[in-house]
Amino acid sequence: MKNRTIYLLLSFSFFLISCKQTKSPYSIQKSVIADKAMVVTAHPLASKAGLEIIKKGGNAADAAITVQFVLAVVYPYAGNLGGGGFMVIRSNDGSFSTLDFREKAPAKAHRDMYLDSLGNAIDSLSRFGHLSVGVPGTVDGIFKIFNKYSKLKNMDMLINTAILLAENGFAITKKQAERLNEYREKFEKHNSHEIAFLKGNEWKEGDLLVQPELAQTLKRIRDQGEAGFYEGETADHIVAEMKKGGGIITHEDLKNYNSVWREPITTNYKDYNLITMPPPSSGGIALAQMLEMVENYPLENWGFQSKEAIHLMVETERRVYADRSKYLGDSDFYNVPIEELQDSTYLAERMFDFDLQFATSSDSVAAGAITMLQESNETTHFSIVDDEGNAVSITTTINGAYGSKTVVEGAGFFLNNEMDDFSAKPGTPNLYGLIGAEANSIQPGKRMLSSMTPTIVTRDGELFLVVGSPGGSTIITSVFQVFLNITEFGMTASEAVSAKRFHHQWLPDVIQIEENTFDSIKTQMLESMGHTVKISNLIGRVEAIRVLPDGKLEGAADPRRDDHAEGW
Ligand code: DON
Repeated sequence: MKNRTIYLLLSFSFFLISCKQTKSPYSIQKSVIADKAMVVTAHPLASKAGLEIIKKGGNAADAAITVQFVLAVVYPYAGNLGGGGFMVIRSNDGSFSTLDFREKAPAKAHRDMYLDSLGNAIDSLSRFGHLSVGVPGTVDGIFKIFNKYSKLKNMDMLINTAILLAENGFAITKKQAERLNEYREKFEKHNSHEIAFLKGNEWKEGDLLVQPELAQTLKRIRDQGEAGFYEGETADHIVAEMKKGGGIITHEDLKNYNSVWREPITTNYKDYNLITMPPPSSGGIALAQMLEMVENYPLENWGFQSKEAIHLMVETERRVYADRSKYLGDSDFYNVPIEELQDSTYLAERMFDFDLQFATSSDSVAAGAITMLQESNETTHFSIVDDEGNAVSITTTINGAYGSKTVVEGAGFFLNNEMDDFSAKPGTPNLYGLIGAEANSIQPGKRMLSSMTPTIVTRDGELFLVVGSPGGSTIITSVFQVFLNITEFGMTASEAVSAKRFHHQWLPDVIQIEENTFDSIKTQMLESMGHTVKISNLIGRVEAIRVLPDGKLEGAADPRRDDHAEGW
């Protein structure tokens, strides 16, 4: 036991030294080529910890478990124990599967739980604090992955770096300091107890964030398995936290949580085969629909972000997001027409009124009117390929930035505000401006609809690309664009990920663009076709790994934030 502790502390010290803690705490790598393995995540410590596990003989699933735990510590903005997510995994024998560890509505949830006496949706209830929380799925998901795919079969080894980082602290980046300061008031509002994320003065780059309560929670998971989260002390802390603020999650909800292996959505685009996420994500179906709709147009000849290419892509997005609002929800509760939505004849009909010269009005695609996004939001994606050719693509979230903003007293982690992904009232927009209806109404035990689109692409049966993104409603269009940037516009993975992005989601009827995406001439051309163009926040944060023709791996971490690629 003593030897084990000394060994773990030594390897942790080497691990920290290898993270080059100079003035800016980390030297961040955006674009990396490697022979054997690659891990790309939102934080350098998580990418390094994941790759270390592969170097010690673990496979991509082992690395994914370590990354998920480390992100829960070093990336509280979106990394989590208190949220959920989706995994697409492809083994080197060509088999693949998806895991749905999405949060579920508690048993006491009901359709009108976020409506006032006049029947209007109260956004603050589904977005902040205790009532916005869905039953977390992440820890159950981790154990499902461990039991089915782990090569190391040693949870101690997989969780240990996270425990040490929580216990000893880690140096925060400049962006992390800025965000912790930005959310200070909300943390104060939604927590009556002391939390690790609040301190007397402002956070600065390089400050240590120490999370002793989270370390204890991780140790309970290490020692008791899933029961260390869903039962016993951690469950008691979660339920006690709920009682403080009008939350409704009970011990039974926690004990009954179950993640599910699901049949992937698979679709072809030219020579490529895409394996992606089925409901309760809308991402896989929407991606498949958009790719089929653009496949027969000369995108390559038109060129990257040519007027024609943008127009076509926007028009497919408009139609697909309209379908999403009506037909997509948790297929365990609602009969989602999965096949019908991907049917070629249906998709051709959907594009029947597409005009190469003019924008289609969203009113004529379907009805509705909504507002633009306001709050900044976050989720996180990571992509992993190991030295045996296994690949994992995971998108995980607590929904908004720091989720509900509520930290479980005594357990040290943020709870999600995923309930806002349900349609609180038909036609009323959620945090991302997305609207929904019956398919995505609230019911006990149901999973709220997601846009997360973890995806793996093969070509001629060989691994080609591992990709995914955060970004709420913009996730699907971010994955769509990065895939086309590589396959149609001849970009490297890094170029494809870095390129500016645009987004249309049917309603509001505008093309959202990142700053400096189009020049004024391009904007005017699009406006003369009937489009409205508006500058928005950053769109997506894509982490991709591409297998190059010589078999090497190209890791591409999004330049928009602290994202980091680590190769071997
Ligand atoms: O599941 C979803 O679609 C959302 N909860 C994802 C949130 C998200 O990506 C926020 N990130 N920027």
